[in-house]
Amino acid sequence: MPVDPGLFRAAMARFPGAVTIVTASHGGARRGITATAVCSVTADPPSLLACINRKTGTCAAIRAGGRFAVNLLPDPSGPLAMRFAGAGGASGEEKFTEGDWRPDAFGVPVLASAPVGFSCEVSEAIDTGSHTIFIGRITEVRLGEGAALIYEQSRFHRLSPL
Ligand SMILES: Cc1cc2nc3c(=O)[nH]c(=O)nc-3n(C[C@H](O)[C@H](O)[C@H](O)COP(=O)(O)O)c2cc1C
Repeated sequence: MPVDPGLFRAAMARFPGAVTIVTASHGGARRGITATAVCSVTADPPSLLACINRKTGTCAAIRAGGRFAVNLLPDPSGPLAMRFAGAGGASGEEKFTEGDWRPDAFGVPVLASAPVGFSCEVSEAIDTGSHTIFIGRITEVRLGEGAALIYEQSRFHRLSPL
């Protein structure tokens, strides 16, 4: 019996996720989307994965440029997360008018205020359903200040110790 996609979404909404903006650049055009489907793959070699909807310009830019960056958002960044999720109508380059974005060594935009940032080179791209799973070999790690922004049940949260 196939599982109803609405039920799947409702179940996944209860999984708290660290909020990131995954970015790419190709031919001088920057692209980025808000993404929680990011996780560690292996420490040897250091690698992570990001699941990106194939309909997005970010997916196309990662495929074309062969690189992407993962920018963990600091906890006051709810509005920036919504902007990069398409809220308010900003798209493509326009999204980058908010936030302190700088190019990494390969021209991929990285967020200066990110508590953690990774630059990656695509080692594998696996198409599955509506998304592409990009496995990225990490070429640079940036450690900053601040705590991660968390998303759960369609709301943003900040971490607090028990
Ligand atoms: C909290 C949150 C997490 C999201 N996680 C992902 C994700 O992991 N992968 C993905 O492809 N889209 C994810 N999305 C949806 C994309 O951000 C959204 O479809 C995209 O930004 C649309 O960009 P566009 O209007 O430029 O195409 C998420 C949205 C939100 C609000």
